[in-house]
Amino acid sequence: MKQQELEKHLSATYHPAEMKQFMPLIEEINQLKKDKNAVLLGHNYMTPEIFYGVSDIVGDSLYLSKMAGETDADIILFNGVYFMAETAKVLSPNKKVLIADKEAGCSLADSITRKDVIELKAKHPGVPVVTYVNSSAEVKAETDICCTSANAVAIVNSLDSDSVIFLPDEYLAGNVQRNTNKKIITYSGKCMVHELYTDEDIRAIRKQFKDVSVISHPECSTKVVELSDFSGSTSQMEKFIRDSKSENIFLITECSMGDNLRSVFPEKTFISTCHTCPHMKKISLKKIRDALKNEQFEVTLPNEIIEKAKKSVMRMLEISYKNAKG
Ligand code: 13P
Ligand code: SF4
Repeated sequence: MKQQELEKHLSATYHPAEMKQFMPLIEEINQLKKDKNAVLLGHNYMTPEIFYGVSDIVGDSLYLSKMAGETDADIILFNGVYFMAETAKVLSPNKKVLIADKEAGCSLADSITRKDVIELKAKHPGVPVVTYVNSSAEVKAETDICCTSANAVAIVNSLDSDSVIFLPDEYLAGNVQRNTNKKIITYSGKCMVHELYTDEDIRAIRKQFKDVSVISHPECSTKVVELSDFSGSTSQMEKFIRDSKSENIFLITECSMGDNLRSVFPEKTFISTCHTCPHMKKISLKKIRDALKNEQFEVTLPNEIIEKAKKSVMRMLEISYKNAKG
């Protein structure tokens, strides 16, 4: 990205003095990428200096999964959380996959183990298991098909069964249930960020602003989603904003998403009532520089897990993209 364009994006969030501090690290990382033939994938929740400064491919978890399987780079460094880096390893097992901080977890991924899935399958024999990608590779390995927030309803409806086990996000499962005739058997996982939003937040904003688009992530409760004008994956939210005529945007999702979009839609006002994901925020420029320099922290998985998890991820990608590779 050209210096001028980068400054435009960063200045929507940061003071010039803060921006100046980022520049040496951004340059160093971009040089290391070239030297090591590394590609940096960046989730929409990365802070602007990571999102715009050093990430080569950005997007929601569905798009980034697809791109992880298609790169020619020798190293994939995932600017996101651990389950995303694991999915990249599953799809590109012969590449070196790195994450800048191994502790960048996810409350949803942490809510369920492989053993829990095996027990659920025993309780509901023959019922297909749909697992949200916000889960460990071990859990994906016990799954019939994965989904993301971008395609959850389509994936559930694609299955030839009247009922479906949907793991681990209880709220996403509830939001899928509103849009399918199939019986959804849920689990009790929750996103620690999206569960903080309430229907009261939306009522208060609608009272304050006449012309406002309320856009929520489907990891929010059904009450929040019902009161929203739109609910979808992080990239689907961006598309909705692009097409929306409203001047004010109340984005009900992780905070950096609004920071990254403010510079793209300067004519809109992003109402700033947001919560940050402590896991996503573990990733910093300094840690990315160290990760590339020292080729740490490498994500490794047993072959058995890779092979089984790959089936469930690829089955999802084949439904969402006609020409998915893995
Ligand atoms: P998306 O798949 O919408 O990018 O979301 C991932 C995530 O972790 C949301 O909390
Ligand atoms: Fe997990 Fe929620 Fe953070 Fe997304 S925002 S990574 S679902 S804890």
